[in-house]
Amino acid sequence: MTRDITRARDSMGTEPGYMPGFGNDFETEALPGALPQGQNSPQKCAYGLYAEQLSGTAFTAPRGQNERTWCYRIRPSVKHVGRFERIDMPYWKSAPHVRDDVISLGQYRWDPVPHSDAPLTFVTGMRTMTTAGDVNTQVGMAAHVYLATASMQAEYFYSADSELLVVPQEGALRFHTELGTIDLAPREIAILPRGLVYRVEVTSGPARGFVCENYGQTFDLPGRGPIGANCMANPRDFKTPVAAFEDRETPSSVIVKWCGQFHRTEIGHSPLDVVAWHGNYAPVKYDLTTYSPVGAILFDHPDPSIFTVLTAPSGQEGTANIDFVLFRERWMVAEHSFRPPWYHKNIMSELMGNIYGQYDAKPQGFAPGGISLHNMMLPHGPDRDAFEGASNAMLKPEKLDNTMSFMFETRFPQHLTEFAAREAPLQDDYAECWNGLEKKFDGTPGVK
Ligand SMILES: [Fe+2]
Repeated sequence: MTRDITRARDSMGTEPGYMPGFGNDFETEALPGALPQGQNSPQKCAYGLYAEQLSGTAFTAPRGQNERTWCYRIRPSVKHVGRFERIDMPYWKSAPHVRDDVISLGQYRWDPVPHSDAPLTFVTGMRTMTTAGDVNTQVGMAAHVYLATASMQAEYFYSADSELLVVPQEGALRFHTELGTIDLAPREIAILPRGLVYRVEVTSGPARGFVCENYGQTFDLPGRGPIGANCMANPRDFKTPVAAFEDRETPSSVIVKWCGQFHRTEIGHSPLDVVAWHGNYAPVKYDLTTYSPVGAILFDHPDPSIFTVLTAPSGQEGTANIDFVLFRERWMVAEHSFRPPWYHKNIMSELMGNIYGQYDAKPQGFAPGGISLHNMMLPHGPDRDAFEGASNAMLKPEKLDNTMSFMFETRFPQHLTEFAAREAPLQDDYAECWNGLEKKFDGTPGVK
């Protein structure tokens, strides 16, 4: 029997190894009694562990936004860094990265970035497409494609600059993190918090996907307003791993991304040594097939914000640093309406990626693994075929099936990297998709 890909996994309870909820105050221990009860910092911790706090927000952030986790670990993190040496990571760029010789003004689309023969890890295989904002002032984001064929062996990574939202498109990854293990495959996403140490194993390769690197305030669930307490992304569908640790005494490297620069430090053991932890600052994954879309049920077309999965605020209410928006299978039922997305110009800058299937505004050319960019105040919308098809279709209820694409939308303009402009498979003729749109107006009333 084939599985209905529009449905989440069959109900068997929460997958073993994970705890449900978004931003919960979790607690978990890999050894019995490792987690102190009733206090955070006992005079002596069980098993000879060290207590350490990982703060994702300022100490004084308001309740509801305050994020921190207490870790009980084999060694304190000061033992997981030594002297740093600068290393090159030539394809991983950070904002501001504005090149005089690259034109970011234009509607752009790319075919899937192909794999190479080089053995690339999740870190060395990161290819930045766009940057926005400023990593040093903790605003904005970068959009990347990762191409991973090799697992990180005795090599660990953390980003002091950002949290990473990972959107796999091909292959599967296992994130061994300080706070537990996340298995990640297409149709799922994961959030790896700023400062969290991990290594990434390629469990099914080659692996390709997209990353939104968020320099700013952490992703949160959007307010649902009049929609009420349910639908869209429901908190219980987010899964945080239970505690897991490595007690490994082998030479290891830790790579640190800090203010856009990369550094390496050598240590003699695994830094993934957290035996127990509690708190609300933790990695999480989410199955996109559990997203319950809400949309037009009589006529017209809501703004695409109706499909927001996660939003990272910018400090200006209602204007996101980043929205992560999902376009997935759904029924189209609107009467006397043009059903695909409308033509528009937007103050926000929209980078889209296709996870699988066909996107309704662009029936051709936007392949799974492909990317498009419609930057600040650049007009875009359905191509000619989509316009003519939707303008002349019989408007019966119709299911948009086999479709899953997403958008990283930011209030900041997105600047192309040299890689995006010169090396990635840019479609030179993309903007021509609107060429066939003809003038129908001749001054006479009546529907053409
Ligand atoms: Fe748009």
